[in-house]
Amino acid sequence: MSVFYHEKSREFHLTNGRISYILSILDNGEPGHIYFGKAVHDRPSFAHRIEYRCREMSPYCFPDRPEFSMNHLQQEYPNFGHGDLREPAYVVRRGTGSTICEFRFRAYRISRGKPPLPGLPSTYTESDDEADTLELELFDERMQASLTLTYTIFRDFDAVARSVRFENHSTEPLVLERAMSASIDFPDRDFEMIRLTGTWARERAVQRTALSNGIQRIYSRRGCSGAVHNPFLALVRPDTTEHSGEAYGFSLVYSGNFLAQTEVDAFDVSRVMLGIHPDGFSWPLRPGERFTTPEAVAVYSDSGLSGMSGVFHPLYRSRLARGTWRDRPRPILINSWEAAYFDFDEEKLMALARKAADVGIELFVLDDGWFSTRTNDHSGLGDWWYNKERFPNGLGGFARRLKQLGLDFGFWIEPEMVNADSELYRAHPDWILRDPDRFASLTRNQYVLDYSRPEVVTYIGDLICAALRESGAVYIKWDMNRCITECFSSALGPEDQGTVYHRYILGVYALYERLTREFPHVLFESCASGGARFDPGMLYYAPQCWTSDNTDAMQRVEIQYGTSFVYPISCMGAHVSASPNHQLNRHSSLSARADAAIFGTFGYELDLTRLPQEDLDEIARQVAWMKQHRALMQFGDFYRLRSPFECDDAAWMVVSPDASEAVVGWYRFRQPASPAFSRVRLRGLDPDADYIVQPLGLILGGDELMHMGLSTSDLPDDTPCDSKTKRFYLSMQK
Ligand code: DGJ
Repeated sequence: MSVFYHEKSREFHLTNGRISYILSILDNGEPGHIYFGKAVHDRPSFAHRIEYRCREMSPYCFPDRPEFSMNHLQQEYPNFGHGDLREPAYVVRRGTGSTICEFRFRAYRISRGKPPLPGLPSTYTESDDEADTLELELFDERMQASLTLTYTIFRDFDAVARSVRFENHSTEPLVLERAMSASIDFPDRDFEMIRLTGTWARERAVQRTALSNGIQRIYSRRGCSGAVHNPFLALVRPDTTEHSGEAYGFSLVYSGNFLAQTEVDAFDVSRVMLGIHPDGFSWPLRPGERFTTPEAVAVYSDSGLSGMSGVFHPLYRSRLARGTWRDRPRPILINSWEAAYFDFDEEKLMALARKAADVGIELFVLDDGWFSTRTNDHSGLGDWWYNKERFPNGLGGFARRLKQLGLDFGFWIEPEMVNADSELYRAHPDWILRDPDRFASLTRNQYVLDYSRPEVVTYIGDLICAALRESGAVYIKWDMNRCITECFSSALGPEDQGTVYHRYILGVYALYERLTREFPHVLFESCASGGARFDPGMLYYAPQCWTSDNTDAMQRVEIQYGTSFVYPISCMGAHVSASPNHQLNRHSSLSARADAAIFGTFGYELDLTRLPQEDLDEIARQVAWMKQHRALMQFGDFYRLRSPFECDDAAWMVVSPDASEAVVGWYRFRQPASPAFSRVRLRGLDPDADYIVQPLGLILGGDELMHMGLSTSDLPDDTPCDSKTKRFYLSMQK
């Protein structure tokens, strides 16, 4: 891969041979966008692609060039108030009150590899030959401030990572009022926009709508990325399908307030931008200070949505997620939440653990309720020491008993929250986010701790570290069960209140950084009332995330299907829970529940002590199956085959990188009478190989399975009518 610079035309071309990203320095010194998409050969200039038009009523930069209007030129990082009347990427306010900026090209640097972003999660390289980075420095002479656009192109992934750094070199304070991470102008509007949307227990449903003039935006102002919209959007051509056509994916590596939008202007230019939500954001940039935006990742594929996801998955699995557990198959766990909720003591948990050990489960996760006075959701948050009545010998004593059964131990925390009924709140009522002159909203009886204050982060961190040491735990589930309201910090002055949302997330990242550094062997699973903070920022610290509180098998297929647009299987926490299901009260068979959960990091979340022996025997078989196949499931190539958002059934599969084995999951959402025949065409197999297909007991060609399809029609009359799912295992015949 390379970054070409053509001095005469002042053009930059980033390419890895499969994709190209081309930009130029316009005559007014601002960076203009030329192209992002399938690779083109490098040329000394693509300036002929910049179309100048003299348009009525448009502001222009040079008295004798009315066609040079920033309102019509495609740009890389458009500003506010200087001729571009569309949405700006940034706004900087000077002491005079002026927001007019003139950041002009000053210098560039091309380097190998990819520099980290200070205090922020980002994609990375493991050696310098994996990526090249271009830094484009723009300078505003009057303001004495620089703005540096950073672009990284990867050798192995068809993606460009972007971020922006502002620096105040003057003696005058500045205020950043908007600082998006990336903006790209496409020359047409022949696109549809895909977003992942939902709410609690139905996260990340796929929605696809045509672009129209004006702005289509998704966002969060909740203090976390949230369940309503994921920090991701895709632009696809109207004829793009799962496996063909152009797809652009944009993803923000950030866990706080975000904005992602497409604006179509009057001349059908489509401007995509994403970054920190400007509402509630204003960042004083004092003399000598810097501000770095989160990273945005832009992906291009000409092989449809699966091609787009096929870039995100390995990039996020191997060059965003980090640590000991990044490449390791994940332990099969039992989680105590839906098994016992708050109603437990050590002996009750030990009974559950014995059953878990009997069926081959490897990790016992003690969910909410183990600490201080926490026997319901009204008290205890903030006081992270174990409840002596429940655990007379501490978490360490409990963990040692688990170890004797052959189980590892992990526990739940919700370190960003506090109950009013807690020692922490009584000692430090000012440690929560609130305006002291106003009432403070509650959600689930709890307040949000002020993580913009380092002393709060340190205090909580010390307690969690002590609990980790005392217990010897190897796993942490980090939950976050309310969004931020009354975002005001008692520790900051009036001019800094606009920094609190972002400082909060930086505090969360700082604690994750501390814990992952001090406990590198611990597997972290993030969570926010299920999947309300399922974002790339979290993935950098926690390689898996609890996908949703909804554990109904069929709804989980929808949720995991939508989630897979961006995120790999290896990061989706997925558990077999009770039937009837606790969220929907719906019945489903044990096999259907497992058939959904195996496409994730597998576990159980139900009271095993209440199950009949035949169910426990079946669970033992499921666990054994998953142990045998989890490397394939969690690290194979994942393909969506049929969408539950478009059909009455759904299908997906994973294939090992060498195509020697595969698992196919098929799920029926609606059972018609007299059903038609059903075929699903598989992907990623070796067309020249034969595969043994179980449980059919057939030997079928890879080409046949991919072109003629796998039959998912019901088997003859002995198929039980409640069988909603099928699982096929394919192994290449040697
Ligand atoms: C919300 C999580 O999503 C659940 O899995 C569980 O951990 C509860 N919180 C505990 O309070």
